[in-house]
Amino acid sequence: MRITCDSPWSAEESRRLYGIERWGAERFTINSSGQVCVQVDYDRRVEVPLPEIIKGIRERGYELPVLIRFIDLLDASLRRLHRGFARAIVDQSYNNAYRGVFPVKVNQQRQIIEELIRIGGPLQLGLEAGSKAELALALANLPEPGLLILNGYKDTEFIDLGLWATRLGHRCFFVIESLTELSLLIERSTFFGLRPLIGVRTKVSARVGGLWTETSGDRSSFGLSPQQLIHALDQLKAAQMLDCLQLLHCHLGSQIPDIKDIRTGVTEACRFYNVLVAEGAPMGNIDFGGGLAVDYTGGGAAPDSCNYSLEEYCQTLVKTVRLCLDPLQIDHPQIMTESGRAIVADSSVLLFNVLGTMRFDTDDDHPAIPQDSCRQILELADLRDNLEQIDAEQAYRQALSCRDFLRDSFRAGRLDLRQRALAENLFLAVAGKILRAIPVESELPAGLVGLRRNMADIYYGNFSVFQSLPDSWAIGQTFPLLPIDRHTEPPWREGMISDLTCDCDGKLDSFNLAGTCRPTLPLHPLRTDEDYILGVFLTGAYQETLGDLHNLFGDTHTLNVRIDSEGRFELQQEIEGDSIGDLLGYVEYDPRQLNEKLRCTAEQAVRSGRLNTEQRRDLLRFYRELLQGYSYFKSNEKR
Ligand SMILES: Cc1ncc(COP(=O)(O)O)c(C=O)c1O
Repeated sequence: MRITCDSPWSAEESRRLYGIERWGAERFTINSSGQVCVQVDYDRRVEVPLPEIIKGIRERGYELPVLIRFIDLLDASLRRLHRGFARAIVDQSYNNAYRGVFPVKVNQQRQIIEELIRIGGPLQLGLEAGSKAELALALANLPEPGLLILNGYKDTEFIDLGLWATRLGHRCFFVIESLTELSLLIERSTFFGLRPLIGVRTKVSARVGGLWTETSGDRSSFGLSPQQLIHALDQLKAAQMLDCLQLLHCHLGSQIPDIKDIRTGVTEACRFYNVLVAEGAPMGNIDFGGGLAVDYTGGGAAPDSCNYSLEEYCQTLVKTVRLCLDPLQIDHPQIMTESGRAIVADSSVLLFNVLGTMRFDTDDDHPAIPQDSCRQILELADLRDNLEQIDAEQAYRQALSCRDFLRDSFRAGRLDLRQRALAENLFLAVAGKILRAIPVESELPAGLVGLRRNMADIYYGNFSVFQSLPDSWAIGQTFPLLPIDRHTEPPWREGMISDLTCDCDGKLDSFNLAGTCRPTLPLHPLRTDEDYILGVFLTGAYQETLGDLHNLFGDTHTLNVRIDSEGRFELQQEIEGDSIGDLLGYVEYDPRQLNEKLRCTAEQAVRSGRLNTEQRRDLLRFYRELLQGYSYFKSNEKR
């Protein structure tokens, strides 16, 4: 598909181009008016356009950027996962249950945890804690008797808190990561007079693909090796606590792209399970950790996508366990998973406005060519006019060579500024024409690699990559991104996104279109009288927690939205983003002291005549209000 400013365009074209029905199926779509909508299922599917929600948010006094959490989508994901396992258990005639466990690290925010506990109550959702702080929040929130899985390295305090949880009535599994931890647990539980529930975390040798491959295989930093597992069994037997060993834990990795790797890892874990049963441990539970991938690109390609559905994941786990255990006549254990991103990624959408663009192409494709122009300029003009007759890669090489020759001539003083400008314009006209002839969803041939990136506009977004999308910077993760409106108009510009930080890494330049990863995205030209708002989707997992304060851009406003069966939305919880004063506080400044210091500076300025008293008052008021304000860009009219 070639997109020009007058291409006929409809919402259907946009749906296809941005792949929204692949990565956002049943949650997001584009309506016939060209607006991105969130979808929620009641007895019928309800759709609410995001532009309407933004209007409502602004009417309530919030500025962009905002993070919207669609609580209905969170609930739906959790239910879908449990439905998938319930179905697999029936289909596979499996003789035990599934228990979901939410790994708190994936999104620790209070509103998320409280909602998961509320909706997860009837599903008996457990919580996984990997640190004392996570256990502290889980313990206070989980109604007992709940399920707690304790992962990570544990000191005495961590173990003691887990023992208190046990005493309170929770089914609290201590997952042993090292032999010293096991000695400590034996010692502390004897002191408490409790028999704890113990799990052992194994290292499986099978490696999984994707970005988290290091979590798997022999060199993964967590879990016991086969030799250590034998020592752990001996230690438990010596302490007469083998009856406490009731769980095998193995986390194969996060975002596992290939179902084949999951099957291999699960098979190996089951072998360990069989051995533990044969050694006399009661067991009864097997926890496969995280790994259920989110299809961030809708394209089926690793690492940000996967080659299986949620249903296939559930069926694979249940069937593999059954097939491994049945020949040995071992009772089916309760299956647990700690799916994090698959539960929360869907629910959050980051919305930000574009502040401006920088264009790199030329407005003037047909500049006048003076008679006495040098040979390379005439050659460029000829290329522009006769491009159809030449191979694109050859034409581009020729244009580059002319341009570089002319740049050298300018440096050597043989070309004046007007000729240099003419040369650059002609080169851009040729490059633009070559690019426009290639369908947007196609990969560029080898000789043109870099052309799309070099010609793309930069769209300046009102957000911070480091705060809101840290994984895109840190591990190159691709998130779906698209304008939330104007999908009845052709997106005929190509853009990359730059954020507000003064950092060249503060950019988004990896997008997925029709399964192809590319550095630019088709976008609309800005209009002077209208905000252009982009949405970044599937951002609910890890991003809020991992975000940092680069350039002191803080947490965005976060609004929890509920959609009712009539398609009305309601802001259920509103968490104001960090103020500038909050941010300065995080780096140890006291806003009161800052005000005081500035007051002294202003007073001196009055004494020396650089400010009058009225200006002093205005400055101090302005500064005080600024500290209370949002750290992101404010549009002029709001000042
Ligand atoms: C022990 C453990 N469980 C669960 C998870 C969550 O994984 P995911 O978000 O892929 O479901 C992780 C993440 O790395 C983990 O380390």
